Amino acid sequence: MSDDTKDNTPLNSSTSTMWGGRFSAGPSAVMEEINASIGFDQRLYAQDIRGSRAHARMLVANNIIPAADGEAILKGLDQVEGEIKAGDFKFSRALEDIHMNVESRLREIVGDGAGRLHTARSRNDQVATDVKLWVRDALDGLDGALQDLQAALINRAEEHAASVMPGFTHLQAAQPVTLGHHLLSYTEMIGRDRSRIFDCRARLNECPLGAAALAGTSFPIDRVATAEALGFSGPTRNSLDSVSDRDFALEYLSVLSILGVHLSRMAEEMVLWTSVQFGFMRVSDDFSSGSSIMPQKRNPDAAELVRGKAGRVFGALMGLLTVMKGLPLTYGKDMQEDKEPVFDASDTMELCVSAMTGMFASATYNTDRMKDDAGKGFTTATDLADWLVRVLAMPFRDAHHVTGALVKMAEDKGVGLEDLSLAELQTVEANITDDVFKVLGVDNSVNSRLSFGGTAPANVLAAVKDARERFLT
Ligand code: ARG
Repeated sequence: MSDDTKDNTPLNSSTSTMWGGRFSAGPSAVMEEINASIGFDQRLYAQDIRGSRAHARMLVANNIIPAADGEAILKGLDQVEGEIKAGDFKFSRALEDIHMNVESRLREIVGDGAGRLHTARSRNDQVATDVKLWVRDALDGLDGALQDLQAALINRAEEHAASVMPGFTHLQAAQPVTLGHHLLSYTEMIGRDRSRIFDCRARLNECPLGAAALAGTSFPIDRVATAEALGFSGPTRNSLDSVSDRDFALEYLSVLSILGVHLSRMAEEMVLWTSVQFGFMRVSDDFSSGSSIMPQKRNPDAAELVRGKAGRVFGALMGLLTVMKGLPLTYGKDMQEDKEPVFDASDTMELCVSAMTGMFASATYNTDRMKDDAGKGFTTATDLADWLVRVLAMPFRDAHHVTGALVKMAEDKGVGLEDLSLAELQTVEANITDDVFKVLGVDNSVNSRLSFGGTAPANVLAAVKDARERFLT
């Protein structure tokens, strides 16, 4: 696509003497610059032409325009689309936006008959339709990309169903968990993102075309037919709302923002886990970079950027919320500001999802190190308390107290719980037996967590199967 939208009009005599000192061109050029959206809305060309085709066919079918003009318009639209695709189309800023650029070229190709295309239509319903179609395509693409991410996560989870690692709350060692279980928690997060995509798509899928400028039209149009032709579930119900609604853009940005929260949390764990201090994970060379001064460094740049770019996506959402708040019905030119944040956030998240998929698919995990760390910080204390409840029939609160005393003893001696002798354990609770050592190892701990949704390796394998069915089929 050629981006020939800069107007290099030389300094002219119409430059305002009152305020024109800093402008190289007159007020009309400034107006053109602030008014035009073609610099960015040319990305809507395929959706715009698709909408025009559906509209033209409907106009012919309802005898609103002559069939011959309709045919010429459809042929002309094919040509315009071909020119844009091939990069042969000259976009003009003077023609403001994609709608007028396409229509103007159509008129050059087809002649005056092209002017009939805009019967019973306005740029207001046209742009709402175009952006909806674009967002719908973007949602579908994102859903596919997220499915790929889930596939990568599920494969790694299966591989590490029984790899033990420390589980954290407050970023403090809490209880041993399995790496597979940890990775499947990400899969659930992404699953909810995909279900938000599904909801957003269903809600946006009503066609505004035919609302015209705001009030509908006096022509006998068939809005159900255009809606169907464009893959919508039906037409929007109120013409005023049709041209003033940008909820779908806000919802799309909300979907992307919550996804951004998820990806940035995953990315943050990558940053932590790849540090020398954690040493749990190694991101492949393709996704790491070195330092120009410190030869030993391997920086997780891609993960840091995913973490950072979430902020940019939130900015897009906040920006558009602010544009839309307080706008009186119906269409206002303010709404032209919907496109750049939507496009930017969309591109940004597409890139982030690909980077995360690549990083998860190629990462290596230091399972020895993780297992070593899994037992540090008395992470099996809950298992000990549970044993006291189960075997000695102690109330849990009392068991918690006894365990606390044993943790203190181990801490004072600088050893783990499993390193205390039976005699030492019995100084706190005389009825403890040898059997207790069975629950103190990290493997025993995770193997025992068989409750539904728990971390046991057997559960992880079942959850992998279940996740494949729910998300990948
Ligand atoms: N470029 C405009 C936009 O993006 C198209 C609609 C313009 N409508 C109008 N009545 N000026 O919102």
